[in-house]
Amino acid sequence: MQFTTESSFSRIRSACAIVGIYDGGELPESTTRIDEMLGGRVHRIIKAGDFTGRLGDTLLLPDLEGRIQRVLLVGLGPAKARSRRNFRRAMSQAAQVLLKTPATDALLGLTHDEHPDLDAYYRARMAVELISQARYRIPDLKSGRKPKAPRLERVSLLAADRTRAATMTKAILHGEGIAAGSAVAKDLANLPPNICTPTYLGKAALALAKSHRKIHTRVLAEPELKRLKMGSLLSVTSGTAEPARLIVVEYRGAAAAIAPIALVGKGVTFDSGGISLKDPGGMDEMKFDMSGAAAVLGAVKALAVINAPINVVAIVPACENMPGGKATKPGDIVTSMAGLTIEVLNTDAEGRLILCDALTYSRRFKPSAVIDVATLTGACVVALGQHLSGLMSNDDTLAAELVAAGTRSGDPCWRMPLGEEYQEQLKSNFADLANVGGREAGAVTAACFLWKFVDGLKWAHLDIAGSAWLNGAQKGSTGRPVSLLVDYLLAQK
Ligand code: BES
Ligand code: MN
Ligand code: ZN
Repeated sequence: MQFTTESSFSRIRSACAIVGIYDGGELPESTTRIDEMLGGRVHRIIKAGDFTGRLGDTLLLPDLEGRIQRVLLVGLGPAKARSRRNFRRAMSQAAQVLLKTPATDALLGLTHDEHPDLDAYYRARMAVELISQARYRIPDLKSGRKPKAPRLERVSLLAADRTRAATMTKAILHGEGIAAGSAVAKDLANLPPNICTPTYLGKAALALAKSHRKIHTRVLAEPELKRLKMGSLLSVTSGTAEPARLIVVEYRGAAAAIAPIALVGKGVTFDSGGISLKDPGGMDEMKFDMSGAAAVLGAVKALAVINAPINVVAIVPACENMPGGKATKPGDIVTSMAGLTIEVLNTDAEGRLILCDALTYSRRFKPSAVIDVATLTGACVVALGQHLSGLMSNDDTLAAELVAAGTRSGDPCWRMPLGEEYQEQLKSNFADLANVGGREAGAVTAACFLWKFVDGLKWAHLDIAGSAWLNGAQKGSTGRPVSLLVDYLLAQK
């Protein structure tokens, strides 16, 4: 796919022009100008009541004559209710219909018109992200004939003037990076757990380094994890025959003296719960329990495509959580790399056990900030559903930056508290802390557990248990929060 900009109506030639219409029939300037080339056809269709502009509605007019062969009308919703969300909704509906047409190129009018919440940069970036998202196909293992790939090859984004076109060119690159990173994340998360093992994740990280000069990968195996005294991480992997890994991926886009931002991603490639075995219903979904790992690897991929001038290190503790003769038992006490002892009361609270050692490991990079990303708690899904990721942080500035990046990128998160009062729920009579804090405020106590390990670090935690994948007919990885992370990282330079 190739994305370009177009700032002149007189040059337009297209197999499919996509134009927006407000609910109530009002036309954005770009639609009026394109309709002039069509002899007022769009205007007549609206007048006759064949299209109302209801949000997300589409109508394809094929077989036109002249410089525009097709027009795809897309409903933008009421002009007064213009919002990021409505723009994204209209854009993604349009993308889905466009990809079903035989058009090999398209002209996108929606990026032309000023929008109260979206400057030209975000209109273009969202367009690229959403068209790429609509093109994404799950790497399925179905044996039948593969459906035909979409014919679309080029999309030109209409810009109001040359300055905006220049801004949009940068936005296109950022959108392409994020799309490539999201695809990496989705592919990894969608794969079955018998293929996407810790070993596979390590190989995927090595492959990233092979294809990008600025990426450097190191994969540590269990003997090294023992030497590092990662007793907490190792306690989670003890029940499985699959070897664990610690995957370290550096993206070096700035001078070596510049402190990196560390991204730590939970990489449980299958979470059965261990001895505290989960209910069988929906257990297959626990292949997505490495979505944090997938997202941080995806973010690194995006940075490399964008050639961002920053340093980032992604750290992925990867293992399976399985029952077995050597599995950790409820009541076992393990010693983390930081030296804190942990009473494992529930082996299903394994994410925090691998993350705490990875957070401790991140200190050796002297990071300016550490952000961990994890499908950590069902309680977060109860609290926020699938729409927002949970955010906890020991730094108000970092938290505000992440919330802002989430809003801008359409990949939102919502801050939740940390606090001594919750910390008390993790007290143990036998060890420095317990790995669970009871039923109440489960997302917060999980974050509070991690908080114990980040003293002196500027740290944030993203609980993506709800946002990382969809259920039902659309079951599959969402690629979140790659867009949020990259938006935040690009703002750091
Ligand atoms: N991977 C799960 C969290 C999860 C649950 C993600 C549902 C997505 C959907 C995590 O390892 C887990 O099992 N957490 C437990 C913690 C509990 C034992 C304190 C949970 O949420 O039930
Ligand atoms: Mn679990
Ligand atoms: Zn888990």
